[in-house]
Amino acid sequence: MPILLEMKDIHKVYPNGTAANRGVDLTVHEGEIHALVGENGAGKSTLMKILFGLEAPTSGTIEYKGKPMVFNGPRDAIKQGMGMVHQHFMLAPSLTVSENIVLGEEPKKGPLSLFRDRVKERAEVDRLIQAYGLKVDPHAKVETIPVGQKQRVEILKVLYRGAKLIILDEPTAVLTRGTYHHLHYA
Ligand SMILES: Nc1ncnc2c1ncn2[C@@H]1O[C@H](COP(=O)(O)OP(=O)(O)O)[C@@H](O)[C@H]1O
Ligand SMILES: [Mg+2]
Repeated sequence: MPILLEMKDIHKVYPNGTAANRGVDLTVHEGEIHALVGENGAGKSTLMKILFGLEAPTSGTIEYKGKPMVFNGPRDAIKQGMGMVHQHFMLAPSLTVSENIVLGEEPKKGPLSLFRDRVKERAEVDRLIQAYGLKVDPHAKVETIPVGQKQRVEILKVLYRGAKLIILDEPTAVLTRGTYHHLHYA
């Protein structure tokens, strides 16, 4: 499979002097699944934040789909087809599951695409839930669902945006055992 991502000799020193990454190389081919393993503070989250444009590397290069990349923020990374599921939830609690999944990318209809297409939204969300077996009630308000389901919503959000490279930063840390096994073997 072709190379999707190449991070080379990544160094990150935070402004307070903490050296979080010292010469890290990471190559990912299309279709591969990688696990970054290391103790607390080893620099895993930092490396993923650099990949997603949340932190700038102090030095080092990133090539994505064969082209050098400089991300000025997550928006750039998302545009290139990356998605990130964070360790902590970043959902809108008062909105429904379905509204959270499509937030900012709502299907539209009518002249000039001025109106929300709730029918299309429903169909698309249902399709994703089915396709990945991530059971969750699309109509439930996010503030009312258990943490395991919130994590599914975070993952569905990324899948909805058609991400080609998905970064999961300890997404199972907050999952219930059943959900963990479900995801693991899906
Ligand atoms: N924003 C920050 N400012 C300063 N130091 C940080 C910051 N974020 C993380 N660190 C430090 O960088 C090191 C690596 O942290 P992190 O990347 O979160 O590791 P991991 O995800 O492997 O637990 C730790 O020593 C942590 O305290
Ligand atoms: Mg971490």
